[in-house]
Amino acid sequence: MEDSTVETNNTTGIKQNRVMAVEEWIMKWEQNEIGFHDKQVHRLLERNLDAFLNNRTKLRIFFPLCGKAVDMKWLADMGHSITGVDISETGLKGFFIEQNISYIEEQVPEIPGAKVFKSLSGNISLYCCSIYDFPRIDVKFDGIWDRGGLVAVNPCDRECYANVLLSLMEKECRYFLVTVSYDTSLHGGPPFYVSDTELDKLFGMFCSMKYLGKIESLIEMQKMWGLDYLYEILYLVTQKSNLC
Ligand SMILES: C[S@@+](CC[C@H](N)C(=O)[O-])C[C@H]1O[C@@H](n2cnc3c(N)ncnc32)[C@H](O)[C@@H]1O
Repeated sequence: MEDSTVETNNTTGIKQNRVMAVEEWIMKWEQNEIGFHDKQVHRLLERNLDAFLNNRTKLRIFFPLCGKAVDMKWLADMGHSITGVDISETGLKGFFIEQNISYIEEQVPEIPGAKVFKSLSGNISLYCCSIYDFPRIDVKFDGIWDRGGLVAVNPCDRECYANVLLSLMEKECRYFLVTVSYDTSLHGGPPFYVSDTELDKLFGMFCSMKYLGKIESLIEMQKMWGLDYLYEILYLVTQKSNLC
C-alpha cells in the first residue's frame, strides 16, 4: 500500500473490543443520535469524483451501511444507479423523505425478513437488512462509496465485512474506502481506527490500495469524546490486475 502520510496513532491505548449489536444502531436512529450523518456531499468524494468515475457513465454504485447519506442522491442525479444497505428502516425512509423522492416498499425473496425501498424512477434501491446477508442477492458493482462502513463494523466482524465487499466488486470496480485516524487512547470507537497493516490483511491479497487524500473532520460529538483531531482518509481499492 502507498504511504498515507497519516500521523502515527497512539497504539498503546487502543481499546477496540467494543461490540455493537445491530439493535444499538437501530436505537440510535430511533433516538436521532446520528452525529455521523453529514448534510453536505462528502468533501473527499466531491474532490476525487473524477478518480471515482474514471471516465465511466451510468455506473452501478454501492453504499454499504448507507444510513441516509446525501451522496446517494448526488450520484443518482448524475445518472448512476444506487444501491444501499442499512439495518435501520428509519434511516432509509428518512433518506427518501428528506430528499423528497417517492418510493415503494417490497419484500426481498432472497433474504427473509428484509425489505427494499425503491425510488419510483428505479434508480435508487435501499435494502433494509444486515450487510452480511446482502450477498444472497446476486449483484456486482462498478463503484463503492464506503464512508462510515468498515470503520463502523465491530473489529471482530471486519474480515467478514471485507469479504462481503470483495464479493460485490465487478472487475473494474473502484472502491473508495474512507478510514479514520484519531488518538485511540482517548476513544475506542466506533468509528474504529483501522491500521494500514490491517487494511493490507483485509484487502491486500486481491486488491491494490492507493492513498488519495485526507481531511480534518472533527465534529462536536467527537470533541465531547475528548478528541482533539480526527482525520478521514480516502483510499482507492481496485482489483490487482486493474490498478492504473
Ligand atoms: C456510522 S453510520 C454511517 C452511515 C453512512 N454511511 C454515513 O456516512 O452517514 C453506520 C451505519 O451502519 C448501519 N449498520 C450497522 N451495522 C449494520 C449491519 N450489520 N448491517 C447493515 N447496516 C448496519 C447503522 O444503522 C448506521 O446507519
